[in-house]
Amino acid sequence: MTPEDFPLLAGFKNDVEFELIGGGRPPKPTSLEDYKDFHERFIVKGDAINFVMVADGRVIGDCGLFNRDLVAGTAELGIGIGVHDYWSRGFGREAIGLLTDYGFRMLNLRRIWLEVKAPNERGIRCYRACGFVEEGRLRQHIWSDGRYVDLVHMGLLRDEWTGPAR
Ligand SMILES: CC(C)(COP(=O)(O)OP(=O)(O)OC[C@H]1O[C@@H](n2cnc3c(N)ncnc32)[C@H](O)[C@@H]1OP(=O)(O)O)[C@@H](O)C(=O)NCCC(=O)NCCS
Repeated sequence: MTPEDFPLLAGFKNDVEFELIGGGRPPKPTSLEDYKDFHERFIVKGDAINFVMVADGRVIGDCGLFNRDLVAGTAELGIGIGVHDYWSRGFGREAIGLLTDYGFRMLNLRRIWLEVKAPNERGIRCYRACGFVEEGRLRQHIWSDGRYVDLVHMGLLRDEWTGPAR
């Protein structure tokens, strides 16, 4: 990810459908300055490892490993494909395969985890295909699009990992 990607990525945050499906908080307008501030606080100071996803020569989304706990060997995985035409075409699966490979083999992580809203069936199906299992569920934890929804916790241990999903 480079600063040239920021306007596009800030634009994804202004896509209400994308934010309702994948975001943890209610959508709110995000300026380029807001995005730069978010990047500085969350990615740079948070020591996250972030990548853009490129398909057909264009950036379609971003993904990364956040909230790294170097003692426990854990990290949270985040991903978002902002260009809707690229949903359900296997790009999420491919990116997560690369990220988990990087996390386990290069960063010596032992466990990678994520949070996903229960109605996000596409996401849950993609994560399951990559080896993640449901570990817990916070019931009615999030107010989203006029209703309370469950927040599902999923995780993948290095011992269980069989390599990138195909
Ligand atoms: C979640 C996301 C990263 C998944 O990436 P993707 O490239 O779309 O996922 P894949 O194509 O690898 O896999 C999607 C799976 O869900 C299935 N699927 C697609 N639409 C579905 C739906 N409405 N309901 C249930 N399953 C669905 C697909 O068939 C596929 O499963 P299969 O390969 O077993 O048939 C991507 O869709 C995305 O960024 N969505 C918007 C934001 C978001 O949800 N971010 C994640 C927050 S936790």
